[in-house]
Amino acid sequence: MTVEQLATSALTALRHKHLLSTADLSPEEITLVLDTAEAMKEVGARPIKKVPALRGKTVVNLFFEPSTRTRTSFEIAEKRLSADTLNIAIATSSVVKGETLADTALTLEAMSPDMIVIRHSSSGAPYLLSRICRSAIINAGDGMHEHPTQALLDAYTIRERKKRLSGLKVAIIGDLLHSRVLRSNVHLLTTMGAEVWVCGPPTLVPADIRRLGVTVTHVIDDAVREADVVMLLRIQLERMEGAFFPSLREYFAVFGMTEARLRLAKPDVMIMHPGPMNRGVEIASEVADGPYSVILDQVANGVAVRMAVLYLLAGGAAHEDAA
Ligand code: CP
Repeated sequence: MTVEQLATSALTALRHKHLLSTADLSPEEITLVLDTAEAMKEVGARPIKKVPALRGKTVVNLFFEPSTRTRTSFEIAEKRLSADTLNIAIATSSVVKGETLADTALTLEAMSPDMIVIRHSSSGAPYLLSRICRSAIINAGDGMHEHPTQALLDAYTIRERKKRLSGLKVAIIGDLLHSRVLRSNVHLLTTMGAEVWVCGPPTLVPADIRRLGVTVTHVIDDAVREADVVMLLRIQLERMEGAFFPSLREYFAVFGMTEARLRLAKPDVMIMHPGPMNRGVEIASEVADGPYSVILDQVANGVAVRMAVLYLLAGGAAHEDAA
């Protein structure tokens, strides 16, 4: 389906005004985002990579935390959809003078944007904005809570290769405790019927993670054995106070993804990492750069998936009909 044919598809919009969590998405909505992203990916292959879908819409990118992949792919996605985009440079904004998040958001709102993409170190910051703003809010990563567009682009990348999500064994290995990517992926993948295994040192596994319907192991070989997908998560030293494991060298020895461990997985295993990577800590360079790695495909697909999310939150085909 091309982007021009999206208006003819049966389900054309998301139920919620905002994208805050993958836990809010039904299987049909996840499929809608992934199908729409397929059409958006085709736009990126055209000589002129632009469609008028969000012409006249204004999107504010409000990143309070560092980002390479998410911020740039949102900006490229917005430009490909012809939206007017505004990047707020936090370091040169009134945030440094002590302005609160709520006041910053309401100040931006007074200039009538249609959508605000927010990344913030506090879990729940996008929820606050969704309560006080008229704009649609997109969570681009909030503290240790969620990163929904990352999970959607991960699902897109898996489905592109495997043609399905249901029934796949997905092993997620690393710093589970501090990971918003983990939480968004677990909600999404279990909703779509995947079998999710999580693995890390006991100090880095959230106490209540089993309640989300995953299998927990502290033995990496058990997680990787017969896996269709292995997703490594970054050791987030910046969020750690105190020692969660003896040393990075020991972490790599016990939980690092090596070529030898990779041989336990299915022959067509996919190696994923949301980035940024700690090479030689959670993943060996030979694996990160090897034939099973789809890490750069994840980055590329991030543009199409974020185009799909922006398009659908703007009203999708219904919006185009009204225009
Ligand atoms: N995966 C991810 O969120 O990367 P960035 O921090 O570079 O956006």
